[in-house]
Amino acid sequence: MIITKTPASRISEFDSDNFAFGKTFIDHMLICEYENESWKEAQIMPYGPLPFSPAMMGVNYGQACFEGMKAYKDENDDVFLFRPEKNFARINKSATRLAMPEVPEEVFMEGLKKLVDLDRNWIPNGQGKSLYIRPLIFATEEALKARIADKFMFAIVASPAQSYYTAPVSVLISDHYSRAASGGVGYAKAAGNYAASFYPTKLANERGFEQIIWTDDATHEVFEESGTMNVFVRIGDEIFTPPTSEKILDGVTRDSFIELAKHNNIPVHIEPVRVERVIEAHNEGSLKEVWGVGTAVVTSSFKSLGYKDEILILPEMNEEEKFATMIKNQLVAIQTNKKDDPFGWRCKVEKGYSNI
Ligand code: COI
Repeated sequence: MIITKTPASRISEFDSDNFAFGKTFIDHMLICEYENESWKEAQIMPYGPLPFSPAMMGVNYGQACFEGMKAYKDENDDVFLFRPEKNFARINKSATRLAMPEVPEEVFMEGLKKLVDLDRNWIPNGQGKSLYIRPLIFATEEALKARIADKFMFAIVASPAQSYYTAPVSVLISDHYSRAASGGVGYAKAAGNYAASFYPTKLANERGFEQIIWTDDATHEVFEESGTMNVFVRIGDEIFTPPTSEKILDGVTRDSFIELAKHNNIPVHIEPVRVERVIEAHNEGSLKEVWGVGTAVVTSSFKSLGYKDEILILPEMNEEEKFATMIKNQLVAIQTNKKDDPFGWRCKVEKGYSNI
């Protein structure tokens, strides 16, 4: 791996108490090019723009996918990744579905750890703070014929992140638009899945809803995901979440929530969540919580669900009573090395790893 360090760090311009999500980038990035059917040597270099043609196939045909993951700093300034092997496996699952080459494990894992070690000073320390890491693969070939490209780039960029307390939001259960279809790319973290969600989300925003609960494309009767996240429902003291499928992303936070709920002896049902069942539970007073989970915000709690012309108001609960908050706190405590990690999820990034 070729490492070219920046001659001028920008870290003194970074205010770790006041910054927006995904707008400030660490000093370095990783890039690795693929051509002639093989990956070249990966390079870590100063972060900055790269020269590409508007005829690049990745932007014309959307042959692009990404990952989202985080690194955390504990009180001793030790740095940890969280279940990085899951993101490695998933980026290659997404790449395969989009007819792109798989990234070799050493490029992904070594590159990730070296980049995070090199810019460990950028990882903010403190409650809810982390480094959001964005690995991505996209087609770089300059050609207009609609076919599989033959040149690609794997890159990793990263940006400091913090979790704000976000008040519970109103969400709209979709009865028309879909995020994914049978036989499609819903399970892949395909860039185009996000592009396709922006317009329906804008329409929902105009109606006063912050997010959409995506339902199945055939009947719109079953929950699939929520916004850019997986969705959980609490009825009584039991949790329900849809099973992963070709239409649902296999979220790392989703899986961690399920494991932690089981660890807390909360019954978790991984089964189709029908809109009708949720409405019924609301009408009989047993619908307690509905929330989304994802890497970026960890949890987003909902205060109301819009469905057709109805608004279902969820009960107001103290933070201590919410399963969503309890499990999130346990998850963040594991991520930030404040609590034992019985699952073996933390992955320490040794200091000086980038010099090896
Ligand atoms: C996540 O919840 O981690 C996401 O996928 C959001 C990301 C697109 C910013």
